[in-house]
Amino acid sequence: MKIISIFLIIATLLSTSNANSKQFNPIIHLLRPRSGSGGVRVDGVNCLSWRLAVEAYNLRDWRLVPASCEDYVGNYMLGAQYRDDCEVVADAAVEYANSLQLAGDGRDAWVFDIDETTLSNIPYYARSDVQFGAIPYNDTAFNEWVAEGAAPAIPAIRRLYKKLLSLGVKTIFLTGTAERFKDIRIANLNKAGYKDWDKLILRGEADRGLSAVEYKSKKRTELVNEGYRILGNVGDQWSDLIGANAGNRTFKVPDPMYYIG
Ligand SMILES: *[C@@H]1O[C@H](CO)[C@@H](O)[C@H](O)[C@H]1NC(C)=O
Ligand SMILES: *[C@@H]1O[C@H](CO)[C@@H](O)[C@H](O)[C@H]1NC(C)=O
Ligand SMILES: [Mg+2]
Repeated sequence: MKIISIFLIIATLLSTSNANSKQFNPIIHLLRPRSGSGGVRVDGVNCLSWRLAVEAYNLRDWRLVPASCEDYVGNYMLGAQYRDDCEVVADAAVEYANSLQLAGDGRDAWVFDIDETTLSNIPYYARSDVQFGAIPYNDTAFNEWVAEGAAPAIPAIRRLYKKLLSLGVKTIFLTGTAERFKDIRIANLNKAGYKDWDKLILRGEADRGLSAVEYKSKKRTELVNEGYRILGNVGDQWSDLIGANAGNRTFKVPDPMYYIG
């Protein structure tokens, strides 16, 4: 009896995960979940508690993923949990978008962050010399990766993006990436299935020295002054979602790999 019910549970889990995996773009599955326990408590650090504190914005200004949580974060990012968590974000945002009474005057807008929101840098962060953020950030190496223009889409957020376009909401990409990467970012967005936007805002010379919150607030304020109504805003960093004119609703995509203040 017991054996049969365990079998049924396993069969159910397998069929559920198969059904779920169909919704995802296979490109993001190219990297296999890491081997190893993926256990939550490692060397006295509860990595799930750590990740929860990061997502809830209880932990701020952290520099590195705790060394003992590198495998945990790797398993999370490469496995089904991260993808499912992103789908829940997109579901909530689509439900909200469907509930809106849109003016339809071309000023209903939605702001998208790019890295770890619209596009995924998992292929970079999975590298052995990056270790999912457990070793210090290397600007040169990361910029080389950006210059490849090979970041895949995060399927859940692309689904949200397409839904918003179908509703007539204007999409605006607002990224901390430097202006000099504009062409490569456009090519990367197109390749990943994002082909239509009102604005693509990158960090220019005039934004030098601003913190992420100051930069994004400044740009959103400019948008509002132009007449846009920021109905929604989606990002993986809290600095995308706080500050001036954050939007009527904000949606946080998970990111336990790095912190930008
Ligand atoms: C950063 O990345 C560059 C380019 O890959 C590499 O040459 C350099 O050694 C790296 N720096 C550190 C401190 O690892
Ligand atoms: C968005 O927020 C503004 C300012 O608080 C408010 O006037 C407007 O009604 C809100 N729009 C929606 C669709 O909730
Ligand atoms: Mg981001």
